Amino acid sequence: MLVMTPPTTLPASRVPDPRQAPPLRWGVMGPGWIASRFVGALQKHTAQQVTAVGSRDLARAASFAQQWGVDVAVEGYEAVAERPDVDVVYVATTHDTHADLAILAMESGKHVLVEKPLATNAGDARKIAEVAVATDRYCAEALWTLYLPKWDVLRQLLDDCALGRLRSISGEYGEHFTGDHRIFDPALAGGPLLDLGIYPLSMITSLVGPPTTLTASGTAHPTGVTGQVAVTMTHDDDVLSSFWTTMYGAARNDLRLVGDDAVLVVEPVHNGPGPMTWSSADGSRVLAYEEPSALHVDGLHFQAAEAARRIAAGERETPMRPLSDSIVALEAVDAIVAVTS
Ligand SMILES: NC(=O)c1ccc[n+]([C@@H]2O[C@H](COP(=O)([O-])OP(=O)(O)OC[C@H]3O[C@@H](n4cnc5c(N)ncnc54)[C@H](OP(=O)(O)O)[C@@H]3O)[C@@H](O)[C@H]2O)c1
Repeated sequence: MLVMTPPTTLPASRVPDPRQAPPLRWGVMGPGWIASRFVGALQKHTAQQVTAVGSRDLARAASFAQQWGVDVAVEGYEAVAERPDVDVVYVATTHDTHADLAILAMESGKHVLVEKPLATNAGDARKIAEVAVATDRYCAEALWTLYLPKWDVLRQLLDDCALGRLRSISGEYGEHFTGDHRIFDPALAGGPLLDLGIYPLSMITSLVGPPTTLTASGTAHPTGVTGQVAVTMTHDDDVLSSFWTTMYGAARNDLRLVGDDAVLVVEPVHNGPGPMTWSSADGSRVLAYEEPSALHVDGLHFQAAEAARRIAAGERETPMRPLSDSIVALEAVDAIVAVTS
């Protein structure tokens, strides 16, 4: 029987200070939007060194290197994987390239942190996991939310049964994009599911496991991607979950966990640093987790610090985002795509 322990205070995060993580030498594949923010966060909050950046176009790599003070700019992603002054590669290219580049990096002897989604389907994600074992390299998906201090607090609350019996989780994530964004391009595995929906989906499946049933609806966008998707799932222990995602504009962008004895709301924007609120079922007691919401995804360094700690310790995965969890999320993606495309 589940026995609820009503918290009197919220637990403290156990995520170590990112600045204390052993410094590794990072190579960046793909000098785009997220790569800039990742390198900026590393330089601001950690002792990690970014030693090389590679682009399909040398001029783009050189411009990025100059902006961020990176010593080496190279043409092509293979050139990053081959550099002796790189310990770990950050794959920051479009989704469709993640699997090939993760495998390239590991087969070249590098550890790898791969932007979300780990791959575009579960089969490719399984291949990545096989290569990680065969090459004995660290490999993890950069689903940055799951490395944040607040996520560790949330996990402790669930481990302590602070909601009583967990009944349901719901989330949503929508953003506005200008028409030239890669999200509209089917050749780049566009659509909101892999870009945005992957957050609530991954949070849900990492907390309550794979779906036992799944229903989904989507609407098509004229460019050939699915423009918005709504998903309902059931999980073990009769947990119900739902999320929807859209590329047409901002949604509420929160995550809500409902238990018999309390409700936990991860306030918008749920996938970055920011506040959470625990409320007893009758609303008489409220505990607030206070954390400034990060501007411009400033928080991407926690996943890099975790990679550095694990690699330095000789470990090849992280419990914060094991490859098996990435595969479970992509199996759900496969099931959603099968009924919405
Ligand atoms: N963690 C987060 O909060 C977050 C936020 C945004 C994006 N992401 C993830 O990061 C990845 C990159 O997203 P982004 O927003 O940074 O995209 P972006 O600005 O468009 O950059 C993507 C990079 O991919 C490379 N690329 C390789 N093949 C390409 C192709 N066929 N077409 C276009 N670019 C190609 C490009 O580098 P070169 O051409 O210079 O080699 C480009 O710099 C995505 O998988 C996304 O899911 C994560």
